[in-house]
Amino acid sequence: MEWHDLYNTQPKLQQRLQIVREYISYSLNASPPGKIRIVSVCAGDGRDLLGTLAHHPRAKDVQARLIELNPHLVERGRATALIWVRHQQIEYLHADATISSNYVGGPESRYC
Ligand SMILES: C[S@@+](CC[C@H](N)C(=O)[O-])C[C@H]1O[C@@H](n2cnc3c(N)ncnc32)[C@H](O)[C@@H]1O
Repeated sequence: MEWHDLYNTQPKLQQRLQIVREYISYSLNASPPGKIRIVSVCAGDGRDLLGTLAHHPRAKDVQARLIELNPHLVERGRATALIWVRHQQIEYLHADATISSNYVGGPESRYC
């Protein structure tokens, strides 16, 4: 069993995820009007960010890059984010987050 499978059975992890989503939601609510730029480092399958965006009115303003090393989680995350990937709001990189070149051209530099 892998760490991310434990989300299905462990209440503590589910509670943690809920708290993380609430923080993300709070940050989105507090963002000024216009584009909201996000980089998710070691994103896993994106359940924290994508799970929040799925129900958040500011999702349309988000421009995000998610960086994850595990190809299975990237695949799963891309499937979840399909509609946003198509609209070029979300880039899901299968890449090493410790390599600075993987941040080049990301939301921060592109939209500043
Ligand atoms: C504990 S998980 C957290 C994932 C996600 N933030 C969450 O809370 O569900 C850490 C993730 O970091 C990824 N990871 C570890 N080293 C990495 C690296 N150098 N670059 C990108 N991802 C990395 C792992 O594959 C794993 O999916």
